[in-house]
Amino acid sequence: METTLISGGAGFIGSHLCDHFLNKGHTVICLDSLVTGNQKYIISKKNNKSFILIENDLTYMRLADFPQLHIDNILHFASPASPQDYMKYPFITLRAGSIGTEILLELAQKHSARFLLASTSEIYGDPTIHPQKEKYWGNVNPVGPRSIYDEAKRFAESYTMAYKRYLDLDIKIVRIFNTYGPRMRLNDGRALPNFMAQALKGKPITIYGDGTQTRSLCYITDLIDGIEGVIYTSYSDPINLGSPEEITILELAQRIKKISNSKSEIIFKPLPIDDPTKRCPEISIARKVLGWEPKVTLDEGLILSFSYFKQALSGEYS
Ligand SMILES: NC(=O)c1ccc[n+]([C@@H]2O[C@H](COP(=O)([O-])OP(=O)(O)OC[C@H]3O[C@@H](n4cnc5c(N)ncnc54)[C@H](O)[C@@H]3O)[C@@H](O)[C@H]2O)c1
Repeated sequence: METTLISGGAGFIGSHLCDHFLNKGHTVICLDSLVTGNQKYIISKKNNKSFILIENDLTYMRLADFPQLHIDNILHFASPASPQDYMKYPFITLRAGSIGTEILLELAQKHSARFLLASTSEIYGDPTIHPQKEKYWGNVNPVGPRSIYDEAKRFAESYTMAYKRYLDLDIKIVRIFNTYGPRMRLNDGRALPNFMAQALKGKPITIYGDGTQTRSLCYITDLIDGIEGVIYTSYSDPINLGSPEEITILELAQRIKKISNSKSEIIFKPLPIDDPTKRCPEISIARKVLGWEPKVTLDEGLILSFSYFKQALSGEYS
């Protein structure tokens, strides 16, 4: 059976990956500093003999600090991810993309492991073409407030590609578009948890901008299936994973209001600097190479998420 190391394994996506690969019979090494992760997702697995926890900041580790067992897959998900988080932790974010990527690439080389980088749609910045194809190089402000995250991920992609080109490492890069579902933090500052929390509390639902900016939302189980497909494919150029169904932020607020049967009013505040106006993946490569596309509809995913957020708000998942 395979051994899979997941950095950021106590976070939203990482914890689902840990569960997924434990269920598949892998030995899972979860590496997390808990800077934005949740201990709860680790505690429930602590008695599982196939689960190894390293509670540490990846970027201060040496290769000798990793468990002395053969590693087959390394999935690099450690990084603050929401704008609120990465602006709160700018240096942790920059280090996770740069030094963290370097350390895990070295580790992958040592073990001849598959290496998968969790990149992001943010590398496209505020895109000038729509929807975004993998061949598009992006429109990123390298010194703007969001560059902490965008440029760290762009650097991580570049470093990862160099390991493929010069050292023949088996690498994969997934460009993840907005993903949602159970285990998102209620207070991570992203639109969906904000809207859910505000709707549940009967407080005004706050839209930044006029609400015409678009996003596409992929349910977590679909993303996990896509990631698994990418790990085992021989395709090693970047692959977009996300929902091609585009929705305006205003529409999202209205749907959440309806699903939650909330009386909250929708209010508008100024748009933050460099906030992308459009975001939607072109996923023909994922379709062709992996036979993958999202299966969970937005309404299904919102209903599933709503029951999680309801429990989270009542303290059951805090
Ligand atoms: N959620 C999304 O929609 C989305 C979209 C695009 C890309 N991604 C990428 O997926 C990854 C996970 O995102 P998420 O939404 O689960 O975020 P998250 O904040 O829930 O998870 C990130 C995890 O990484 C850990 N971490 C951060 N820096 C670390 C370090 N130096 N050492 C060890 N652990 C560290 C955090 O404690 C946390 O548990 C990130 O790399 C993010 O860039 C997420």
